[in-house]
Amino acid sequence: MKLRFLAIAALALVSTLAQAQSKPEDMIRLRQGGMELLTRNLGPLNAMAKGDVPYNKEVAVQKADFVNALMVEVFAAGFGPGSDKGWQTRAKPAIWTEGDNFKAAQDKLLGVLKKVQASAGDPAALKTAMGDVGGACKGCHDNYRDSGYH
Ligand code: HEC
Repeated sequence: MKLRFLAIAALALVSTLAQAQSKPEDMIRLRQGGMELLTRNLGPLNAMAKGDVPYNKEVAVQKADFVNALMVEVFAAGFGPGSDKGWQTRAKPAIWTEGDNFKAAQDKLLGVLKKVQASAGDPAALKTAMGDVGGACKGCHDNYRDSGYH
């Protein structure tokens, strides 16, 4: 009886998640909000790398951990099938036709962010790792982000 209830609860949860994932507007808002959060949380790391603000280990480690977890989620849940439209978006349709290249651009950023995370405890290493971030953003935006919303 108890098991049966759990099975039903699990099924209900799975179908709720599936619904949330398949609603284009939710995916688009998730990815746009995610990209904004990414930018905001990279700000302090950039400022430390450039020497504009003093290095602060606690902040650096917290931000680096956060952007890593964030982008795994954004890429997993923000670009599902059908989300090329349904809300104002700058995502190019090529995302859904050039899946392998788009995935490679994601992996590039995730790899760079992993290095940032691994080096966040050391200011010199952090500075080096942050040097690769902009290129990873640009590498994807140049191919997959439109100049205006459509
Ligand atoms: C793998 C591809 C990819 C990578 C890597 C990537 N982006 Fe994006 N980004 C996009 C796409 C696609 C959009 C457009 C999303 C939309 O409008 O639906 C976008 C949109 C944005 C936006 C605008 C969000 C809004 O409010 O509309 C910002 C800001 C942004 N990205 C920042 C960044 C930064 C900073 C990085 C690197 C640290 C980065 N992105 C890396 C694909 C990427």
